[in-house]
Amino acid sequence: MQPIILALAKGRTVTGILRLLRKTGYDFDGFHEKSRKLVFLDSTNQIQLIFVKAVDVPTYVEKGAADIGIVGRDNILESQADVYEMLDLKEGKCKFVVAGKNKSVLQKNRLTVASKYPFIANSFFQQNGIQAETIKLNGSVELAPIIGMADVIVDIMETGKTLQENGLIVLEELEDITTRLNYK
Ligand code: PRP
Repeated sequence: MQPIILALAKGRTVTGILRLLRKTGYDFDGFHEKSRKLVFLDSTNQIQLIFVKAVDVPTYVEKGAADIGIVGRDNILESQADVYEMLDLKEGKCKFVVAGKNKSVLQKNRLTVASKYPFIANSFFQQNGIQAETIKLNGSVELAPIIGMADVIVDIMETGKTLQENGLIVLEELEDITTRLNYK
């Protein structure tokens, strides 16, 4: 029988997810954090794990290249991919927030927003009747308000450390995010 192909998002949730898989009987002995290998077969030969950039997991699942995916709901929502969220794995808990240097920035007639999640950002400001122009960035979005490229960011916050260390505060909380098992 062919193994199930599981696309797992690279990044900080990997260790927790592998622990979860081990508990359910799927052990990926060959995996170690510093490895650059992208494909692993579990010891029962039932699951082939492929490590994928988080933003790409919904695409692999939608296109049928992976049977199931494990990735944060943030990436599923942003991708608008045609996939089903089967299970909340209760890992990678974080939330979408709007953050900036201070609350007064929200009084502007038109906001400039930097985000890795332009679809989420645009939807939020549209729903709230706020005019906003969104600049898509691929990381280190906290820089944008600091250097004056944007008024606010829409991003995920886990511990809050990145915001704090860059002098930004939460202006609005959007929604809670966790890691989800998804399939087509
Ligand atoms: C994510 C997110 C924030 C940070 C939040 O970035 O975009 O920058 O983590 O985590 P915290 O609240 O625990 O500080 P990531 O680490 O993926 O890096 P990136 O800037 O390259 O996107």
